[in-house]
Amino acid sequence: MAKNIDKIAILTSGGDSMGMNAAIRAAVRYALGKGVKVYGVRHGYIGLIENDIYELDYKSVSNIIQKGGTMLRTGRSDEFKDPEVLKKGIKNLTDRGINNLIVIGGDGSFRGMCDIERYTDVHCIGIPGTIDNDLPFSDMSIGYDTALNTICENINRIRETSMSHDRISIIEVMGRHCGDLALNSGLACGAEVILMPEVPWSIEGVVNKIVTSIDKGKMTSIIVVAEGAWDSMAEFDMERFSDEMGIALPPLMPDERFNSQLLARILQAATGQETRATVLGYLQRGGSPTVADRNLASRLGARAVELLRDGVSGQVVGIRDNRIINVPIGSALGQSRVLDSELIRLSDILSM
Ligand code: F6P
Repeated sequence: MAKNIDKIAILTSGGDSMGMNAAIRAAVRYALGKGVKVYGVRHGYIGLIENDIYELDYKSVSNIIQKGGTMLRTGRSDEFKDPEVLKKGIKNLTDRGINNLIVIGGDGSFRGMCDIERYTDVHCIGIPGTIDNDLPFSDMSIGYDTALNTICENINRIRETSMSHDRISIIEVMGRHCGDLALNSGLACGAEVILMPEVPWSIEGVVNKIVTSIDKGKMTSIIVVAEGAWDSMAEFDMERFSDEMGIALPPLMPDERFNSQLLARILQAATGQETRATVLGYLQRGGSPTVADRNLASRLGARAVELLRDGVSGQVVGIRDNRIINVPIGSALGQSRVLDSELIRLSDILSM
């Protein structure tokens, strides 16, 4: 049953993602269509603390559906973890008569939302917006599909130059502790090796796989590595490895952390094949959102408003089997996302 709410605020928090604008637009226009006023909060929770809140109308969200980034700006706030600061920030909303809030972001943002639920009476609904796709309750989060397509486009380019030089290419992608971006881009681009935080791996295993490829006549190999995969790497004894392979590798600096450039050095020395590493970095977090991201964002934005109008609070929306769902935030944060083991198996078979 729709309740008589008259005001909603909306903010984007954490890393921006492509399609956040489409979600803002959907929430604003859907709410206005139901006679509900909408307010934007700039820079995520920071804007609550700093009282940076302004009213949005139909025109404020014109011409943004196709744009990456977030028109509301975003931010990460440690200060907001302090309940007293949080209460002060929320008072800036309630002083305006706003008791409903939509939070677009990832798990860090949803933890802030949980605290708002705990310490205040403001109703909150979360929308998953992160390129990492690390949220367990939703098949996809807003921005993931666009990032995936950007990664694939760039791997294709790197493959062309790698082929021309008979090189091995290591491409490091984002994803924090989640291997979804690496796994799905690796599968889509025919990568020989995909390294993910969820799957233990070793340098020796990667070298063996590439050497086998070279023996089969493959002169170009693509290795996609998730930025979080360095944590799932087996301990590596550089000195012993150098001795066993009969190669000279410069020793690790005392504080040197393992990274793609280092892996490239080792692979080049161990295989004799020129190897280059590219960290794709922030180019994965910009660009016009794909159709899939825009439409997911539009559906989730509208559902978030619907839920608030129904008096629902403390829930996050998502998509499962192409149906929009909502689940309590507590249960959503309690689980961890499981990588699709079928996809891992398939990518292994196809990369032979
Ligand atoms: O969560 C999105 C993300 O792009 C991660 O993939 C990455 O590890 C992180 O944000 C980078 O954060 P920042 O923008 O603070 O450098």
